[in-house]
Parts: sequence; structure tokens; C-alpha cells
Amino acid sequence: MAILLKRRFIGLLLALLVKVQADEFIYTDNALASDWQDWSWGSTISYTATDIAEGTSSISVNSTAYSALSLKAPASFATMAGFKFDVSVSQPDVSLYFQDTAANVQSPSIPLSAMSSSVTTAGFTSILLNFQNIPPNGAVLGNGSWDRINFQAGGNGAVYHVDNLELVSEIVVTPEFLSAEPLTSNLIALTTQGAVDLSTVKVKLNGKNLQVTGNKTLIPVDTPATTITYLTLGTSFTSGSLSISAGNSSFNFTLPAKLDTTIIPISTHVISDLVYGINFPDSAAYIQSLGVTLSRWGGNAVTAYNPNGDFTNAGNDWYFENRVSDDGNADNWLGWTSGAGSKTTLAIPALDWVAKDATSYSYPASVYPDQQSFDPYNGLAGDGLFPNGSYVTPVPNQSNTYTSWNTSLAKAWLTNLVHKPDIVTIDNEIEIASNTHQDMHPVPMGYDEELSRVVNFSTIAKQALPKVQVAAPSSCSWWYYWTSEIGYTDNAAHNNTDWIPWFLTQMKSAEKKAGKRLLDILDLHYYFQPDTSANDAAAKALRLRMTRSWWDPTYVDESWIGTSTPQNQQPNATIVQVIPRMQKLINQLYPGTKLSFSEWSSTADSDITGGLVTADSLGIFGKFGVDAATYWSDPSITSPVALAFWLFRGNGTNFGDLSLPVNVNKFNPDILGVYASSSVVKGRELISLVIVNKDPSNPVALNALGLPAGDYLLRHFGGQAGVAKFQNTISIHSSSYIVVPAYTAVFLQQQI
Ligand SMILES: *[C@@H]1O[C@H](CO)[C@@H](O)[C@H](O)[C@H]1NC(C)=O
Ligand SMILES: *[C@@H]1O[C@H](CO)[C@@H](O)[C@H](O)[C@H]1NC(C)=O
Ligand SMILES: *[C@@H]1O[C@H](CO)[C@@H](O)[C@H](O)[C@H]1NC(C)=O
Ligand SMILES: *[C@@H]1O[C@H](CO)[C@@H](O)[C@H](O)[C@H]1NC(C)=O
Ligand SMILES: *[C@@H]1O[C@H](CO)[C@@H](O)[C@H](O)[C@H]1NC(C)=O
Ligand SMILES: *[C@@H]1O[C@H](CO)[C@@H](O)[C@H](O)[C@H]1NC(C)=O
Ligand SMILES: *[C@@H]1O[C@H](CO)[C@@H](O)[C@H](O)[C@H]1NC(C)=O
Ligand SMILES: *[C@@H]1O[C@H](CO)[C@@H](O)[C@H](O)[C@H]1NC(C)=O
Ligand SMILES: *[C@@H]1O[C@H](CO)[C@@H](O)[C@H](O)[C@H]1NC(C)=O
Ligand SMILES: *[C@@H]1O[C@H](CO)[C@@H](O)[C@H](O)[C@H]1NC(C)=O
Ligand SMILES: *[C@@H]1O[C@H](CO)[C@@H](O)[C@H](O)[C@H]1NC(C)=O
Ligand SMILES: *[C@@H]1O[C@H](CO)[C@@H](O)[C@H](O)[C@H]1NC(C)=O
Repeated sequence: MAILLKRRFIGLLLALLVKVQADEFIYTDNALASDWQDWSWGSTISYTATDIAEGTSSISVNSTAYSALSLKAPASFATMAGFKFDVSVSQPDVSLYFQDTAANVQSPSIPLSAMSSSVTTAGFTSILLNFQNIPPNGAVLGNGSWDRINFQAGGNGAVYHVDNLELVSEIVVTPEFLSAEPLTSNLIALTTQGAVDLSTVKVKLNGKNLQVTGNKTLIPVDTPATTITYLTLGTSFTSGSLSISAGNSSFNFTLPAKLDTTIIPISTHVISDLVYGINFPDSAAYIQSLGVTLSRWGGNAVTAYNPNGDFTNAGNDWYFENRVSDDGNADNWLGWTSGAGSKTTLAIPALDWVAKDATSYSYPASVYPDQQSFDPYNGLAGDGLFPNGSYVTPVPNQSNTYTSWNTSLAKAWLTNLVHKPDIVTIDNEIEIASNTHQDMHPVPMGYDEELSRVVNFSTIAKQALPKVQVAAPSSCSWWYYWTSEIGYTDNAAHNNTDWIPWFLTQMKSAEKKAGKRLLDILDLHYYFQPDTSANDAAAKALRLRMTRSWWDPTYVDESWIGTSTPQNQQPNATIVQVIPRMQKLINQLYPGTKLSFSEWSSTADSDITGGLVTADSLGIFGKFGVDAATYWSDPSITSPVALAFWLFRGNGTNFGDLSLPVNVNKFNPDILGVYASSSVVKGRELISLVIVNKDPSNPVALNALGLPAGDYLLRHFGGQAGVAKFQNTISIHSSSYIVVPAYTAVFLQQQI
């Protein structure tokens, strides 16, 4: 068997010594192993490709959007240790996941980019996936009668080659020190794999050996492949040069000058419990483990939710197809999410139609043959666009797909709910319904119609659920905060007033007329506008800076918003500062209204920077007095974003409810977030502190005045230690030099 191309082994593999016993070969040359079956879809596949191959041939794959090379095993391979394959492709949009066919369960989807950053078209790269250490964070593959392997393309399709697919029966892990970082005042956090010799660790600060006086080793609950050991030093850190040698590895740091930081012990306001919310959390265990305080039923599909049958329609997210709601019955959903301890937000459909069944769709190929694209899975449902991108005409008859909906049907539904929501929103981003739901509501929605729908549906919601708080208008973005889908003629027709200010004024009048508030919470969706999709170093730094758009009166947005577009009449319109801006409008126009963000996103659920953005944002919500927020959407429980929620609320330990001001000398919000709070526990006031270091390569050190010496619960994620639920109880003898490693978020809470 001639080796045509030299294999390149990636970093992931260097750390592992692979011992192969009774491996199962799925593909070597020319055909699948005889008992394996091809269950692929939407793909052109050759098992005898010779244009690039190891041995005599390889598998070439050309998948359309979301299609896959799917290989079915004769039996479960759950007892195997890992999966090994060679791949040749330009860094593609391909993910790998395993499936348990009988139980219809699938593993998390692992992007190829999380397994290797170095795959190329120039040759094969060998990848070994350890089922006990799944990228990106080292979780276990988990239980399942896994019997199917899927390489699935993303939305752009994918063209690639794979070769030498095999299941390996054993992976022997070589003991190794993976990282060593200074943490807090006198800890070294070591991450290791295998049985390392801790006695080889030597720590030197400015040339002097530091004595190790204690050690504690812990295994993170969700990511057991990597172990963390906290070494306690006899001496506290100071600025200078720190070097740590451990086994054959060494780790060096420059400890910076400390930043004087004052925690002022006088609380300014109560932090709302409801800012730690998530859209559609996965499970009760997810809510409890991350400490999710608010669960939201929302998003584009709920606009068409029909409680009589639990049908919904995807709108332009997926070919205007009806389906059974992914989240089942709303009442049941309210039951289990509130049963798990979260408050709930329910979006009430507020257009004139809801899905009539689980199967219809609005733009059948038989009626509209001339469309831009059709559902790759059925080829029959179109996207409602002509090939030139304009909306197909004539508008379909809504009765083909929908059944009518109105306030009396909504009222009957809400009245009969067994589980009452705490908050309702009036639908979801209906200002853009003529786009997302062009079939249902083809006419652009203007100020008057949207106001009328909010008033009508809020009125019946308050009749059906007297205690509920109503949140609206859930506008999708900055642009639609200030105008409607009709455009500026609509502003002009309304006293030249921007949408949100006009809406607040009108809702204030509506309260007078109704004798009660019909709007309790001004609800918005906030998606950061800068483009960080490149996810390179510059994009990551931008992602971490852009949290300033929540609050900073000097931060000019680094997106289209920042290049002065005269699309509204707001002062300083290139500076978003969305929280204080909206609070100011509320105070001027409709005081007493709360402020929520029922959708927001870090822009990178699985990247460490997404986790740091989330931790920073949660701190900002508390500091700036946001009343409620729910993340879009359920980040995987082991993802960096989920860890940010866990940092503040995980497992029953909560960041305090009283916000404390913090002054940091030479504070640079591009690279640092510091948030303090206190809470009264058993009659004692205990401080909690969250520090987010956004610098990719340098530790930060705070001289934390006002942080008493004593025992603390320490939580952290990120940095060289990686993404895991790291938690320990520590003693701080002096808070005059508290180190937070690069790209790390730390939580410290005083213990009684
Ligand atoms: C992949 O398939 C598409 C059709 O689905 C075709 O247009 C394209 O040329 C193919 N790409 C390659 C590299 O074969
Ligand atoms: C897998 O199953 C075992 C035995 O039933 C159980 O102890 C373990 O917690 C399960 N692991 C996961 C990840 O579900
Ligand atoms: C770790 O701590 C234990 C006591 O908890 C001690 O026996 C052991 O020697 C320590 N190991 C090292 C390498 O310091
Ligand atoms: C360190 O030692 C381990 C085995 O003890 C070895 O696998 C690894 O390659 C070594 N690393 C370096 C950087 O030399
Ligand atoms: C750390 O510093 C030591 C002493 O200067 C040096 O020998 C070692 O190579 C450095 N390690 C790294 C990873 O740079
Ligand atoms: C797009 O195509 C449709 C159907 O062919 C046509 O009616 C329409 O005028 C076109 N729109 C534009 C902007 O060219
Ligand atoms: C739409 O379809 C329904 C049911 O088939 C029918 O009653 C109605 O007249 C149709 N509407 C229009 C405008 O054609
Ligand atoms: C809503 O629709 C139902 C059923 O079609 C109808 O009985 C009811 O009168 C309608 N209510 C309103 C307010 O239009
Ligand atoms: C809201 O209710 C009023 C009074 O019933 C009605 O006239 C109006 O058409 C409704 N608004 C919408 C958008 O349906
Ligand atoms: C129109 O807007 C101006 C401020 O721009 C305000 O003074 C005036 O009261 C508004 N008029 C009405 C009818 O809302
Ligand atoms: C606009 O921003 C500048 C700079 O932050 C500030 O000095 C000024 O007061 C702002 N103007 C308004 C109307 O908010
Ligand atoms: C959460 O608490 C439970 C029970 O106290 C404990 O078993 C579990 O390990 C904790 N999880 C984490 C991530 O700390």
C-alpha cells in the first residue's frame, strides 16, 4: 500500500500515545467494511476516489447544505475508546456527531474546527477523537448505543475527502502537565492528564523559590479527562517574573503592576434576579446546574404557535414549513421550567394566523415552481423567493397553512393554562413579520398596527392572567428601535418621532385609558452589530470590546451604527449605550416601566471569548440595573457561555443581590470587567466579586481594597486551564495582589 501523501499529526494527537488493539476498520480502500451501511443523504459520494488518497483510494464527499456522509454500524460501538480518521479539506463547515439509531439520540455536534485548526487540501490530517475527551472542552461522549457516524455539512454544503476510518479500542493517556497559571493571591492552578508527579513542580518568583504549602486535586464534573490541582504557595504574588516548572514542562509569566481597585461597601441598588435567563433551556437539570432564573418561550417559530395541537411554522428560517413545536406543549413547558425553579416568559402569538397542522407549507413547488431554493430534505417546500431574491407572488392563501387566530382564542388559551407564566411578551419581533412571516403578514407593519396589537393582546393577557407582567414590543434590533418596516414616512406620519419613544408615550396614554398598565416592561432584542464572524484575533478582541455598547457613553459602535447613519433622531446615535439610553427614555416618557432584553447573544457560544462576553454582560446587567434578560438560545451546558451563567448562579451559589460600586484605577473596559455585590447570609453581609480578564495573553492583578481576608468560594473558567467548571474553596490572606490569568473569568465569594 503506497503512501501517496505524508500524514500530518495534529497537536491533539501529540498528547496521546495510541495503543491499538482489535480496532474496527470502517474504510481503508475502495469500499466500506462489508457489514457497514451507507445512510448518507443529500451528498454525492465516491468510495473509490483517487485524486487524493492514502493507499489506493479515499472517500470523496460533496454534500449540499446540512447534508451528510452517514455511516451505519452493524452494532453499537459504545465500548470502543475512540474514532480515528484522516481528512483532507480546506477548513470546512463540517461537524461530526454520533447517533443512537434505536433511541433516536444524537451526541453533541463537534465542529471539525474544534478538532483541528490545521486541516488542508494539500494532504491528509489524522484526527483521533477520544470518546472520554470530546472537543472543544473534554466532555465525555456519554451513554448511548452509538451505531452511526455522521459528517454533516453546514449551510454552505461541503466538499472533502476522508480516508482510513477506524474505531480504536484503546487510548492510553500519557501523564502530562497541560497548564500552570497563577490565580488569586497565592495559588498555582495546574491542569494535568494522567498520573503526574506533583513533587516535580517548582515555582520561582523574581528568582526566588516559593514554597508549596498545600495542594488539592479536583476533577471537573462534566470534563473528567483533565484534572485540576491547586497548589497553595507560602508567599503571595507580587509583580515580576514568575516561572513554574513541572515535569518536563515549564510555564512563565510576567506578573503586572497591580491596579488599585476599591469596592465601595454601600449598595446602590438591588440586582434583578431575572437577568440570568435563557431561551428554551434544555432540561430541568440544565436550569438547576446553571442557575437559570428565567426561561423564555420565544423566537420566530412561536409567532405561529397553535396551542390546539402544538403546531408551529418556521417562517423564513426554514421554508415556511409547519411542524410540531420543538418544545412541545407550552403549558407543559411552563410546568417543567417553573418546576425546576426558573421564572417564565411566554410569547403570545399576536398576528391573525397560527399553524393549522404539522405538515403544510406555504410555497409548494407545484404551485410556485420558480423559487430560489427548496428544502433539501423534501424538495417540495420553497423559500418564498424568486431566483432574483424578490418575494414570490401571488401571496399564498393563508388558509392553506394556517388557521385564524385572535384575541378571544388567545384569551381562552391563557385562561386555561394550568401553569401561569410570570411574564408574557406580545409575540416576537412582529415589526418584521412581513419578512420573517411574509406568507402570513405580507403587508409591512407600521407604528399604528403594532401598537394596536400590543394593546389588544396585553388587554386580554391581563384579563386572563391578572398577575402577569406584559413585556413588549420585543423589537429585533437597533434599526427597528427607531423606525418601522414601512420606513421614515411612518416616522413622519407620527410627529416625526422614533418608534420606541413614540411607543412608550402611547403606552402611557393606554394606561390612562385602561385604568391600569398594559406595558410593564420595555422589551428589546439586542444583538451586537459588529461583524466578528472571522473569529480571528482581531475579531475576538472586537467581540470582547463590544460589550461596551451595553453601557459606555463614549464607545462609538464598531459597526454600521458607528458610521453616522441618519436613521433616527437619537442624540449621539453612533454610541449605542443601550441600557442607559433606554432607561433615560423610560424616565422621560413612561417612568416606572422596567427594561428587559429577551434575546441577546455573545456571537460565539463555543468560543472562550463568547463565554467572557457573557460573563461581562451578566455583570453589566446587574451593575446597570437591567430588569430581565434571556440569552438566545440554549448554549450547550459545557460551553463557555453556559459556564458564564454557572459562574454567577451555578448549583445554588448566587452572585449577591445588592450591587456594590467598584472603582478601578486606569480601568480599561476593552480588557477588564469587575463586578461586585453583597448579600446577607445568616445575618452577615458577604461580598461576591466577578473579574473578567479579556486580555488573550497577559494576567491582570488587582489591589482589591474592600475585599476582606478570609475564606472564599472560587470559581473560574478559561485561560490555559480551559473551559470547565473549576471550583474550589480557598483562603485569601491578603487581597492586595489578586491575579486573574489571561482570557479568564473568576468568581470569588466570601464564606461565612
Ligand atoms: C458539488 O456538487 C454541486 C452540485 O450539487 C456541483 O455544482 C459542484 O460542482 C460539486 N463540487 C465539486 C467540487 O465536485
Ligand atoms: C452512564 O451510565 C452510567 C451507568 O448507568 C452512569 O453512572 C453515568 O452517570 C452515565 N453517564 C452519563 C454521562 O450519562
Ligand atoms: C499534597 O498534600 C498532601 C496532604 O494533603 C501531602 O501529603 C502531599 O505531600 C502533597 N503533595 C505535594 C506534591 O505537595
Ligand atoms: C513530556 O514528557 C512526556 C512523557 O513523560 C512526553 O510524552 C512529552 O512529549 C514530553 N513533552 C515535551 C514537551 O517534551
Ligand atoms: C521559562 O523560563 C525558563 C527560565 O528562564 C526557561 O528555561 C524556559 O524555557 C521558559 N519556558 C518557556 C515555555 O518559555
Ligand atoms: C424578480 O423576478 C420576478 C419573477 O420573474 C419578477 O416578476 C420580478 O419583477 C423580478 N424582480 C426584480 C426586482 O427584478
Ligand atoms: C382561501 O382558502 C379558503 C379555504 O380554502 C377559502 O375559503 C378562501 O375563499 C380562500 N381565500 C381566497 C382569498 O381565495
Ligand atoms: C375569534 O375567532 C373565533 C373563532 O373563529 C370567533 O368565534 C371569535 O368571535 C373571534 N374573536 C374575535 C375577537 O374576533
Ligand atoms: C384591536 O382591537 C380593536 C377593537 O376591537 C380593533 O378595532 C382593531 O382592529 C384591533 N387591532 C388589530 C391590529 O387587529
Ligand atoms: C410632537 O413632538 C414634539 C417634540 O418633538 C412634542 O413637543 C409634541 O408634544 C409632540 N406632539 C404630539 C401630538 O405628540
Ligand atoms: C454625546 O456624547 C458626548 C460624549 O460622550 C457627551 O459629552 C454629550 O453630552 C452627549 N450628548 C447627549 C445629548 O447625550
Ligand atoms: C453541584 O452540587 C452537587 C450537590 O451538592 C454536587 O454533587 C455537584 O458536584 C455540584 N456540581 C458542581 C459543578 O459543583
